[in-house]
Amino acid sequence: MKQLKVKTVFLKKIKPDVFLLGLDSNYLAKSAKPGQFLHVKVDDKATILRRPLSIHKIEKNLTYILFRTRGRGTKLLSECKKGDIFDVIGPLGNGFCVPRSTSHVQNILVAGGMGIAPLVFLAEKLAKIQNSKLKIQNLALLGAKSKKEVLAEGELKKLGFKVNIATDDGSRGYKGSVVDLLKNLLSAIDCELPTSIYACGPKEMFYEIKKVLEKYPQIETQVSFEQFMGCGLGICYGCAIETKEGYKKVCKDGPVFDLKIV
Ligand SMILES: Cc1cc2nc3c(=O)[nH]c(=O)nc-3n(C[C@H](O)[C@H](O)[C@H](O)COP(=O)(O)OP(=O)(O)OC[C@H]3O[C@@H](n4cnc5c(N)ncnc54)[C@H](O)[C@@H]3O)c2cc1C
Ligand code: FES
Repeated sequence: MKQLKVKTVFLKKIKPDVFLLGLDSNYLAKSAKPGQFLHVKVDDKATILRRPLSIHKIEKNLTYILFRTRGRGTKLLSECKKGDIFDVIGPLGNGFCVPRSTSHVQNILVAGGMGIAPLVFLAEKLAKIQNSKLKIQNLALLGAKSKKEVLAEGELKKLGFKVNIATDDGSRGYKGSVVDLLKNLLSAIDCELPTSIYACGPKEMFYEIKKVLEKYPQIETQVSFEQFMGCGLGICYGCAIETKEGYKKVCKDGPVFDLKIV
């Protein structure tokens, strides 16, 4: 982890309120792991605290961030220009535990809305994992309010993922929550085969997933939290969550946790 000055070399509006930002840093591109995040200083005057944003993907020297405009910080970020320099600290956090080779033959990504942000980088790593004996099935479940808000579908398909979509209004795919879609999927596939779930989204989604998985205790599940943060460095306890193993700091012990302890 380092504090760096990084140059903006790419900014694209993906949806009316979603942007893809590319930052040039050889160090970040070489050291980042899926599930880690950057703590970005957006502006000296308007926002005192840095904003935590996941590493969406890495291409050559570029580290991409996919973000939705929510308040002042992300609005300012969406208005930046090529060549602007940001002060970032990162890569931060533990990241997903991704085996080099795997005995898991079914990997399921579950994204609630912007929860897709860290999962594309993870999907790239999972797509490279080999198992000499068994064919690996990579699946992605994307949840969105409507078809207009579905993100990263094409990228995941290019990586060989079978993509299923759930929308709240039923305008695309399954009508309902992405957790219901997961429940249906698990009842349709062979869950005795070693299976791993990787999820990111609102924390309420994790508690719903936990209920669904009571029937499947053999499935290993990692979830990535988006908690309000202060320092991002494990000092202020501003991001603490209560777990079965006591209080954990999302910025330092997480943001990825085994669902069993949540
Ligand atoms: C580890 C981590 C990774 C993240 N990765 C991404 C990412 O890749 N893309 C992305 O779009 N967002 C991500 N977030 C959320 C992002 O940090 C917030 O959206 C951002 O800090 C909001 O800043 P702001 O100044 O625009 O909004 P603020 O003015 O700070 O807040 C505006 C509104 O957004 C809500 N809000 C702010 N922060 C959060 C939060 N952490 N969780 C839920 N609601 C919040 C507030 O309640 C408020 O209503 C991540 C958060 C964490 C902790
Ligand atoms: S944000 Fe300060 S300890 Fe996590």
